[in-house]
Amino acid sequence: MKALVLAGGSGSRLRPITHTSAKQLVPVANKPVLFYGLEAIRDAGVREVGIVVGDTEAEIRAAVGDGSRFGLEVTYLRQDAPRGLAHAVLIAREYLAGDDFVMYLGDNFVVGGIDDLVGRFRTDRPAAQIMLTRVSDPRAFGVAELDGDGRVVGLEEKPEHPKGDLALVGVYLFGAAVHEAVAELKPSGRGELEITDAIQWLIDHGHRVESTVITGYWKDTGNVTDMLEVNRLVLESAEPRVEGEVDDASELIGRVVVETGARVAGSRIVGPVIVGAGSVVRDSYLGPFTSIDRDCAVIDSEIEYSIVLRGASIDGVGRIECSLIGREAEVTPAPRVPKAHRLVLGDHSKVQIGK
Ligand code: DAU
Repeated sequence: MKALVLAGGSGSRLRPITHTSAKQLVPVANKPVLFYGLEAIRDAGVREVGIVVGDTEAEIRAAVGDGSRFGLEVTYLRQDAPRGLAHAVLIAREYLAGDDFVMYLGDNFVVGGIDDLVGRFRTDRPAAQIMLTRVSDPRAFGVAELDGDGRVVGLEEKPEHPKGDLALVGVYLFGAAVHEAVAELKPSGRGELEITDAIQWLIDHGHRVESTVITGYWKDTGNVTDMLEVNRLVLESAEPRVEGEVDDASELIGRVVVETGARVAGSRIVGPVIVGAGSVVRDSYLGPFTSIDRDCAVIDSEIEYSIVLRGASIDGVGRIECSLIGREAEVTPAPRVPKAHRLVLGDHSKVQIGK
């Protein structure tokens, strides 16, 4: 079995939450979301991974390399434009060479990995196996309709009037029949070759399509509330370790990770918290569910249930909660007079100021 990981896309849709143009590299607990997918694939016993890349190829290559540090053999497959998930299968046909494969969307995060799903597929050998999850707004997803026995009878991509709340999670398993299906597809209303149409084709042509309903699913939608929540979920199972320096005047409580080269001084950290490599935390309080990325500075401040991205600094600020601080951002107190907020905010920023 091989894996096909989709990390293409145009890169034109900059997320408000990060400068990175590759949404697959959005960090969750200081690690790009794509890496969790690659690890899940490896843990399910798959070694050969084709990564579909587009405009952001250089960024993805720089992050993943040849895959050896994940225990994977990575081959990059260039897609000329984001012409759809089924188009990615089309261009990967030669690479996949008729093998079974797991297709994994690089901006998806499945809590608990994919071992069970892959194991079931290996035993049952359907033409396709999909994962479904209940969502509050199915219009942003592919939506599956099941019959009384839980069989998939129909699929629709981002329907205006969904026939249920079961959304397709971005992890699919396929046998070789899917190549026949994608070869038959025409672009959808939004101009893409849809994988939902390919699965519908399999159903219509009498192939067996199985589904599993899961909980614990997240995808990058640029929604900060969701991102804080998935960060919380991942931190909850972080293994405490201190590789950096923590002075005697500091106190670490619970699951706290202090990475290599990080320095904690005169501070109190109540986990789960991760302090990234090279970051400095001085005379501060870090509260539960906080991720401080690499090379940040938190000085004389308090922060809780938040994500601070690489190179940001927070200095002399009372209390920050439920926040996402972007790369290289600086948060400092304003001078006492005039009593005013001074803001330099990037596009799509959101600020809530305590009165
Ligand atoms: O995330 C789950 C959803 O993913 C499913 O519910 C939908 O049925 C499925 O169509 C897909 O919808 P999205 O509109 O969210 O897909 P998106 O365009 O965000 O692409 C998903 C990933 O695949 C992302 O990492 C970019 C990559 N991609 C996308 C396209 C269209 C490619 O590599 N090539 C492409 O042509």
